[in-house]
Parts: sequence; structure tokens; C-alpha cells
Amino acid sequence: MHHQVSATTVRSENYNHVFALSSSFSTSSMSQPQLRNARASIARVLRLLQRRKSTTAFLLALILLTSVLEITVPFLTQRLIDGIIRSVKGGNHFALQSLIASLAAIFASVATTRVLRSIYNYRLFVTVTSTEDEIKGNAFENFLRSDMEALTKTNSGQVMGCLDRGASAVYIILYEIMGQNLIPPLIIFTGVFGALLFKSWLIALTVFLPLPVYLLIVGRFSAPMHDLEQKVNAGFERVGKEYYDIAGNVSTVKKFSQEGREAGLQRRLLSEARIPQFCAERKWAVIENIQTLIATAGRVIVIGLGGWFVLHGRCTVGEYVLYIALQDMLFGPMSQLSILLPKLRRNLARAEGLFDILDRKHRLVDAPGAIALPPLKGCVEVRNLSFRYPEAGDWTLQNVSLKVPAGSTVALVGRSGTGKTTFMNLLLRCYDPQHGCILIDGVDIRYGTQESLRRQIAVVPQEVDLFSRTVAENIRYGSPHATHLDIESAARTALAHDFICRSKDGYETEVGERGLRLSGGERQRIGIARAIVRNPEILLLDEATSHLDTESEHLIRAAMQRVAHGRTCFIIAHRLSTIRHADMAVVFANGGIEAVGTHHDLLHRSPTYARLHQLHADKSDDHITEESYKPELVELAS
Ligand SMILES: Nc1ncnc2c1ncn2[C@@H]1O[C@H](COP(=O)(O)OP(=O)(O)O)[C@@H](O)[C@H]1O
Ligand SMILES: [Mg+2]
Repeated sequence: MHHQVSATTVRSENYNHVFALSSSFSTSSMSQPQLRNARASIARVLRLLQRRKSTTAFLLALILLTSVLEITVPFLTQRLIDGIIRSVKGGNHFALQSLIASLAAIFASVATTRVLRSIYNYRLFVTVTSTEDEIKGNAFENFLRSDMEALTKTNSGQVMGCLDRGASAVYIILYEIMGQNLIPPLIIFTGVFGALLFKSWLIALTVFLPLPVYLLIVGRFSAPMHDLEQKVNAGFERVGKEYYDIAGNVSTVKKFSQEGREAGLQRRLLSEARIPQFCAERKWAVIENIQTLIATAGRVIVIGLGGWFVLHGRCTVGEYVLYIALQDMLFGPMSQLSILLPKLRRNLARAEGLFDILDRKHRLVDAPGAIALPPLKGCVEVRNLSFRYPEAGDWTLQNVSLKVPAGSTVALVGRSGTGKTTFMNLLLRCYDPQHGCILIDGVDIRYGTQESLRRQIAVVPQEVDLFSRTVAENIRYGSPHATHLDIESAARTALAHDFICRSKDGYETEVGERGLRLSGGERQRIGIARAIVRNPEILLLDEATSHLDTESEHLIRAAMQRVAHGRTCFIIAHRLSTIRHADMAVVFANGGIEAVGTHHDLLHRSPTYARLHQLHADKSDDHITEESYKPELVELAS
């Protein structure tokens, strides 16, 4: 009976697990692993223990010892019973001493078994959980090291779900399946079978006989059950995915007053997911009944055969009891098999998802023998650079060449979509160009390590993303050693100090998820402070003041000019005055750059620039908008 109870707990545990962890699950990680060799996957999971060889050997030795002790108990009982019966029959006195000795031996054996088993369980738990943490950590790191191209294609919620599920699957396979339900019973099985063979081959055979029948039936049922289980999983994953999506957009749900509908949707999905689960439960009940029937039939035969042996004097009563006890020990583990096999398959599929993330190769890596770039002066040269996004048809940048002396400020101008942000990403080596190269201080950035390059460049992106941490932690993000004074002075420069001090906790204010407790302009100012505090050699400002009102923008621009002093600075700007203050400007047009030069050069060389100048030079509002790039407006203005 015991196995039926455990079967149910095992399964419901599994569903809860799926439900809790499946934020969103890709169908690909579901179908892919089926094509793979399950044996290879098991080997892969077991190889995780390779680094813990001695612990694994210790655990095996321990469980072997425990099993041997466990098997001795029925033998001790047999001797005790036979001794008592002999003394009753023969009238000779069964010494009290022998009785006490037998009882003491049984007690000691059981107690030792328990203690050793506890030690085994604990050591196994520690070993498996640390293996799980290690592989999860490695996979997470590999995910973090993905290049930009891969990151734009991944859904991070999905990756996190995969990591969680995969890591728990590794735990379930190594701890529950292998460590608890497969290897110890297998050892017991071998030991018991050997002992039975030694005592009576006929009984051994009878005990063994139901096993092939059993395996046949398990094999028959397990395949369709596997499909059904997958359907159950998929249903719960759908619920989980929706759950995650709705929770992430709860404010939209509220603003459009869709609470009732979304809650209803959840209830409906959940009840739909339960349908195949109920069906699976019914099928499991049938399988369990068949199992019990076979086991009982086997047991009845052994009891009958043993009884017959006793009656014909071919074995003692003690041996009879021994056979029954051993058979019980044998059928316990066998009854687990039909649960374990599908469970193993389900978890192997999840572990493979984790291995996929762990094995993911990155295209953009440090060149072999890449050097750590020395402190840069900031002379940037771009030579014949052409770049297109891997799946895009057209070149985003084509044959771009320019040379920027160290310490200059370069303004990047051009309508949206012409590749300004892309150009900055190339400077950061988030992508490698297909042709040409970028040299900083004469060194091709591909020959330096990415870490040493990015350590010396700071960027304020178009949309500043903040962590759900405090203001101070967000400013300190790229410069862990910055002191509070550094942070405050950067915040003052970025005009963030005042608004930070207005809140009760000052620099210790939590900014909320993705910084959503701050306004767009406040987020941007924290982003600027974050860049300033790094004190970089090269500073990239991607429309860094676009979320600010005119007045703060003006103040920040003045501050940025001070900050830019003495370092190379690339600014994507939409103010003619910013551009005019720059040492040089680059005018981006579709597919490349139209011209590079100083304000005066460009007036002659770049039609776009001349047009912008004509439109905005005389106005108090020198804000360049998308409209400014439309030629027909120029005609209107002139
Ligand atoms: N990750 C990407 N994959 C494919 N195309 C992209 C990607 N990022 C940007 N693009 C495309 O490249 C072009 C240049 O984009 P971007 O550099 O962001 O322009 P800008 O910053 O000048 O507005 C746009 O047409 C944009 O759609
Ligand atoms: Mg951009």
C-alpha cells in the first residue's frame, strides 16, 4: 500500500512544481529533447558528479553497507524463529541468552541502518544541492555572457523559467530518482535475490517471475502515459505563462479595468489544465491496481509454495517467514519503477533545457590571446567599417571612416534609424563589424578583452534601465568602489542630487522595479550620474537628455560640457547648439554617413547639415526633430 501513497505525492508535487516555476515555457525545449538520446542525457547528468568523485564513492559505500545491514534483519529473525520452534519441538531449553542476543542484534542492526541512512540522506542532499547550485550558477553566468545579438532574441522570463526548472530537474534526478528510489532499491534487489538464490533457487525464481511481466506492462503503459503527462505539463505551463504576463502588466489591467476578465481567464485556463490531469490520475489508478494485482499474485504464489515446502519438510518455518519478508523487500522498489521511468523522462527533458543554456556558444568572444587594453587616451579611428544586423537585408552602416583625436567631443546627427545607436554599440563592441575595424589608441578593439574595453567606456543609453535597488546602488553600478562622496558629486553634476534629497530616504530610496517609481527624466539623470561616476576615458551619450525639460536639459548640457572636458565624448544630440559646441560632427544618413567635419566644414559638405542649420540656427528653439529632416520643410522655411 505504501507505494500507492508515495506515487500520488510524487506526482502532485511535480505538478505544483511545474506550476510554480513555469513562468513561460518554450515548446521548443519540450519537443527538442525527445529527439535526443535519453541515455546520453542521463550520462550527462551523472557526469555532474564527476567533480565530487570521492563523495560519490563514499555515498555508494554507505548505501551498500546500509543495504547489507537491512538484509540481515530478516535472516536474524529467521534464526530466532527456528531456534524457538526447535526448542518447543525438542523440549530443550531455548536459552534466554540467545533470545536476548538475537533481539539485541536485530535492534542494533535496525538502529544502525537508520542512522547510516540518515547520514546518507544528508550527505546526498548536500552533494546534490551544491551540484544543482553550481550548474545553475554556471548556466546563469553563460546566459549573462551572451552577446547582444543573442540577447535581443531571447525572452529572459523564458530563460529564467528554463534555469529554475532545469536545476530542480537535476535535483530530482540525482536526489529523488537516483539517490533514493533507484540505486538503493537496486542494491537491495540484487542482495535479496542473491540471498534467495543461495537459500532456495525455486523460491528465488518464483519471486523473480513477476518482474518480467511487470516490466512488460510498465513498458506498455509508460509511453502513452508519457504523452499524457506532457499534455498535463503543457496545460499548467500555459497557465503559468499567462500568470506571469498578467502579473507583469497589472497596472495596465487596472487602468483598462480588466481585473474580472483576467481573473476569469486564469480560472478557465486552470480548470482546462485539470482535465488531462484528472484523466492521468484515473489511468495511474488503473496502472497501480494492475501493479498491485501482479505483486499480490506473486506474493500468493510464494506464500503457497513456501507453505508447501514447510509441510513437506523442505524448509523451516523460520525460512518461510524469511522468504515472505525478502519478497516484501523486493516488491517495494519494483512498484516504484512505473512512477520513476516517466518521472525520469520528464525531468531529463527539463535538465536538457538547462544544458542548452549552459552549452550556448557565443559568437562574439575575446580573441585568443586578447590583451587587457592599457589605460586609454581615447583616440578613436574607424576604418572602412561596414555593418549590418545578422538577419537584416541592408547595411546599417556602410564604408564608414573617421578619425577622432583624443579628448574631442563628437556630435552624431541624423534622423532616427540611420544607425547612430548602432555606431555606439559597435564602439562598445556589442557587435563586430562585417568589414573594417575600429581602433582605439591604434589598437583594434577586437584584440583587447571586452572587459578592459568596457571598463574604460561609459554609456548613457537612450532608455536608462535601473535595477530594483537603491538610488546609491544604481549610481554605483559600474563602479563598485565609488565612495558616497563620488556618488553625491556625480549626482550633483547630473542634477539628480536635489530630487534624490527630496525623498525621505535620500540615496537609500528604493527605485522600484525597473526604476518605475521615478519619472523618465529622473531615471535619465541617474543614468548620467552612473556614467559620470565611472570617470571613463570615453563617454557615449545616446540622446541622454531627451526626457528632460528644456531648463534641466540646458543645465545638464552645461554640466556635460564640463564632464566631457579632457575625455573623448560621442554625443547623439538633437540641439544645434550642442552640435555647434562639439569639435566635430558626423552626419548619419541611410546606409552610412553623409559627412564628417567641423561645423563650418559641414555647412559646405553636408546638405542635411546645411538644411538643419538653415531651419534652426536663427530660432530660439534649436531642437532638431524628425520633421527637421524632411526636405520639403526647408523650402517652406526659406
Ligand atoms: N538588434 C537589431 N536587429 C536588427 N536590426 C536592428 C537592431 N537594432 C536596430 N536595428 C535597425 O538598425 C537601424 C539603425 O538603428 P539605430 O542604430 O537604433 O538607429 P538610430 O539610433 O540612429 O535611431 C534601424 O533600421 C533599426 O531598425
Ligand atoms: Mg538611437
